[in-house]
Amino acid sequence: MAVPSPEVVRAAQKASTDMADRETPFLYDEWYVAAFTDEVGRTLLRRTILDRRIVFYRTEAGEAVALADRCAHRSYPLSAGLLDGDTIVCGYHGFRYDVAGDCIEVPSAAKCPRSIGVKRFPLVEQGDLVWIWMGEGDATEPDLHKLPVVSFLTSDDWTRSKGYFHHPGNYVSLHENLLDLTHLSYVHAKSFGTPDYARAPFKTEMKDGYFKIRRSVVPTSLPPVWGDPTGLSGIATAARIATSEFLSPAFHLVSTSFYDDARPEEDRMVFSIHTAHLPTPETHGSTHYFIVHGRDFALADEAVTETMHRQLFTAFQEDVDAMSLLEDTLEHTPPSEMYEISVASDAPSIGMRQYIRRRAAAAAGAA
Ligand code: FES
Ligand SMILES: [Fe+2]
Repeated sequence: MAVPSPEVVRAAQKASTDMADRETPFLYDEWYVAAFTDEVGRTLLRRTILDRRIVFYRTEAGEAVALADRCAHRSYPLSAGLLDGDTIVCGYHGFRYDVAGDCIEVPSAAKCPRSIGVKRFPLVEQGDLVWIWMGEGDATEPDLHKLPVVSFLTSDDWTRSKGYFHHPGNYVSLHENLLDLTHLSYVHAKSFGTPDYARAPFKTEMKDGYFKIRRSVVPTSLPPVWGDPTGLSGIATAARIATSEFLSPAFHLVSTSFYDDARPEEDRMVFSIHTAHLPTPETHGSTHYFIVHGRDFALADEAVTETMHRQLFTAFQEDVDAMSLLEDTLEHTPPSEMYEISVASDAPSIGMRQYIRRRAAAAAGAA
């Protein structure tokens, strides 16, 4: 008998009712990564974020601008219009909008109707990232305290590389994937996982809105992507200490240290990497998956940057492929037959999903 008993299934389904899934409404009162800074320029960029169509551009003075991508006249997308100086001219009947989103010219009328325009979204640029505040209702004013500030994204002490996936899946399962790196031994068996990873001891920490799991893989052998640039390849006494932290619905940080555990603590070189996983929901079934990776060693070695980037993004592609398969399975599972059986290492991801669900319910209640 391989199928869980009806009691077990019912209990699992009951437990899932307070956990976010792909149907859970988005959390709008947050900062999300909208783009890399070099994507926003003097060409209109159309992007869907949290199911909202938004157009991005940069003024002649270099300021990034985000406006709702829907003309106030007849809903033609402004991104299909013309960028003229710092204004957008709608490509349908020529209404002109300034950087504030205010309509400042209507060609067919001598005077522009007062107080018409489109929503402007607040943006903040931080290193390679353009963050957008998606707040609605009472929260249209951005809460700068909620902007995740992580120093490696801008510090000269780190060498960074960045990449993007258009992920055909929901952002919640992507966060869950990141919060339990047990999967490294399986999803990443051919890239940066090792067989001992899944059984390595772990510690968790959970508070409201913050979820962490720390896994100590010691002793281990490092895969080439870490072993080669650190000089720790080929030894069986390496340490790999990985911390996964959910910092916000838009930001998951993985921090890993490597060293030779056979050397005394005062005499060991410790190498560190950080990876900012930045999932921005596009729709309920697709996610803009931005990634910035940083290291604190071999800072000026461009060959290391290039090799690590290639190997890492091969591994991240494995996550995208795995989550796409999972989402496809979910889509083809009738709700009545849907259940998930959790284990101890799922605790942080369950906490994270309950947190997102709770906030979505609170926002719906407030609305
Ligand atoms: S739809 Fe934009 S001007 Fe008419
Ligand atoms: Fe992964």
